[in-house]
Amino acid sequence: MSRVVTKAVIPAAGFGTRMLPFTKAVPKELIPLVDTPVLQYVVEEAVDAGAEDILIIISPGKEAIKEHFMPAEKLEERLKSSGKDELFAGIKKINTLANISYVYQYELNGLGDAVALAADFAGTDPVMVLLGDTVMDSAVSRGVSAQLVSVYEEYRSSVIALTRVPQEKISSYGIAAGNMIAERVMQLSDLVEKPSPADAPSDFAVAARYLFTPEIFAALRDTCPGLHGEIQLTDAVKKLLLTEKVFGCLIAGKRYDLGRVAGFVSANVEFALRRPELQESLGRQIMDILKKFNIKDL
Ligand code: UTP
Repeated sequence: MSRVVTKAVIPAAGFGTRMLPFTKAVPKELIPLVDTPVLQYVVEEAVDAGAEDILIIISPGKEAIKEHFMPAEKLEERLKSSGKDELFAGIKKINTLANISYVYQYELNGLGDAVALAADFAGTDPVMVLLGDTVMDSAVSRGVSAQLVSVYEEYRSSVIALTRVPQEKISSYGIAAGNMIAERVMQLSDLVEKPSPADAPSDFAVAARYLFTPEIFAALRDTCPGLHGEIQLTDAVKKLLLTEKVFGCLIAGKRYDLGRVAGFVSANVEFALRRPELQESLGRQIMDILKKFNIKDL
């Protein structure tokens, strides 16, 4: 069966001010999760969901992103000639994952503005949108973007990933309003940006992954600058709700936001502990650190 969604857009142009000074010279989307840049996980998730063509939105100074996905002939030769076959295969794989192209966002006018730059790339096709600084760890065999594709295949309309958040975190996220129409599928009636817990219509937060019909580009063209003078993707989704059904997919999986210091550090500890070769020694070191800071229980 031919794939229904073969295009993905990854916004990766932002300043990453929450990770300064690291992000002064290095794109935050190349921040490592153990030994792999976060953006590589994101590209792999898109490919796993069926993406063949991927557009990465970058900005001047973030060309290292392009380099990461380009062939590195000298390095490959060296790895091959020194018999490091596993490393060679891992490096070679990076530039064969998908057809990756790039577009520049010269003025950083927000996430909505970044996604709008993908209009020509999308044409009349649906597109996945994956935030380039966030890893989604699926709890099932299919990745999170693949879960969105399944919902799209059934309803043929835009789909947004949702995760439940605790009450105290509701005011940090876009929160969905709507009715559950199937297990894990909500038909949205509204999105509320950063509500107080008392005003929040649910505890389902928008979670860094989207799948849009090309109608999103018309909605983005109609969207005026909002919070911080930026074009907000959430505002465009609210406009989209006026012209088509939008669904929320309560994903099976967890979100790791590497664009914040606490998220970056804790994700690295967790993913490192998953590696059998690191688990024992790292686990011991972490216990020692906790003892040193007299942390028993919080
Ligand atoms: P964020 O809002 O987390 O990124 O956007 P930021 O603006 O770089 O972060 P801070 O607040 O300064 O720390 C999520 C994703 O959207 C991209 C970012 O690069 C990030 O991967 N983005 C954001 C754009 O591509 N363009 C924008 O104008 C804004």
